[in-house]
Amino acid sequence: MSIQIPRGTQDILPGVVEKWQYVEEVAKNLCHAYQYKEIRTPIFESSDLFTRGVGDTTDIVQKEMYMFEDRGGRSLALRPEGTASVVRSFVGNKMFGNPGQPVKLYYSGPMFRYERPQAGRYRQFVQFGVEALGSEDPAIDAEVLSLAMGIYRELGLKQLKLVINSLGDSGSRNAHREALINHFKPRISEFCGDCQNRLEKNPLRILDCKKDRDHELMSSAPSILEYLNDESREYFEKVQRYLSDMDVEFEVDPTLVRGLDYYNHTAFEIMSNAEGFGAITTLCGGGRYNGLVEEIGGPETPGIGFAFSIERLLSALEAEGVNLPINEGIDLFIVSLGDEAKDYAVKLLHKVRREGIASEKDYLDRKLKAQFKAADRCKAKYVAVIGENELKENKINLKDMATGEQEEVNLDHFVDRIKGKLSK
Ligand code: HAM
Repeated sequence: MSIQIPRGTQDILPGVVEKWQYVEEVAKNLCHAYQYKEIRTPIFESSDLFTRGVGDTTDIVQKEMYMFEDRGGRSLALRPEGTASVVRSFVGNKMFGNPGQPVKLYYSGPMFRYERPQAGRYRQFVQFGVEALGSEDPAIDAEVLSLAMGIYRELGLKQLKLVINSLGDSGSRNAHREALINHFKPRISEFCGDCQNRLEKNPLRILDCKKDRDHELMSSAPSILEYLNDESREYFEKVQRYLSDMDVEFEVDPTLVRGLDYYNHTAFEIMSNAEGFGAITTLCGGGRYNGLVEEIGGPETPGIGFAFSIERLLSALEAEGVNLPINEGIDLFIVSLGDEAKDYAVKLLHKVRREGIASEKDYLDRKLKAQFKAADRCKAKYVAVIGENELKENKINLKDMATGEQEEVNLDHFVDRIKGKLSK
């Protein structure tokens, strides 16, 4: 019996992988413009990192984490997200001591969650994310949000909605927490088991419950915005002002609650409005997490970031009918006839490839016609044909596949000639 690919995972094959490379390149280039530097962290971490960082009452930690014990008896987890790892690295590498503050980082890599697979939801998915650590300036919040929107816009997405909320500082959150407990407690028995557990531990998460979404107490629940103290309100207003200054459109949604525990102040999501995008409309999520660095054992340091999956980004591009400008073709295909010419083609191919020219030849001893077909399949811009006669006369026939024009080129000048043509 053949072995199946694990549920909720996918192979990214040639033909599709070019899209991945393209979107990652665009995201990386924009990160460079915004001066975020790449960080690469391990795919597995100590389980405690996520229990403490993401929060032990969250679905991610309670239900979705891939945990295992290694041969040394350590409890490890495949990372379900990137923020906790980046913060662990920030603390472990004492980046808080770097003169270049804030520390602005980006990452791209696989994350793992044991979720029920459906369109846009995988068990292994690739998150592209950024984290800015060490500044509590609302301009950094606006920068991070505009960077996320900028990547989507640059790729050609139009039907986007940026939704923001403030979860306030700890004072505001505690006041809101009390109000939520008082609101739900008298009728908590009408809610699911998860919500009953969350009531005292993390009542904010009740608002995010999928099962009890339509309960009448949900829409009448006290809004966090009514509980923001002056400082938190001013902070949130400044973030909004900066966004408006940058012409980044947004909506404020006081019911926006994120599925991870570390957030305070600014929280946001970017949704796709595109028809046909599917049930899961969230493309990107993020927010501020002042307090997380301390939780992970570092000095008091504010932070903010976002992450999106490439899988959902590509679905959104498809739903909006955006064609990425991917060049699938190669520069040159060398067709050869006869043993001597075939040997010469090996040498010539090596020479042109060393000049960075994307080139290919036949390796299946195909006939002339079949070699031309292979060149077509490769979408070659030029085809060079060499046979015994050409070899004797030290020349090669070069054909421009777009115009059909052909010319004889002296073999000694071939590399320069093809380079010249390609540079036009
Ligand atoms: P999150 O909302 O859990 O936040 O995930 C962020 C994004 O990852 C989602 O909006 C979605 O694009 C993608 N994603 C999550 N789960 C899946 C899945 N099963 N399949 C496909 N895509 C998925 C975080 O992870 C935070 N670390 C974001 C952050 C960074 N906050 C601050 N900094």
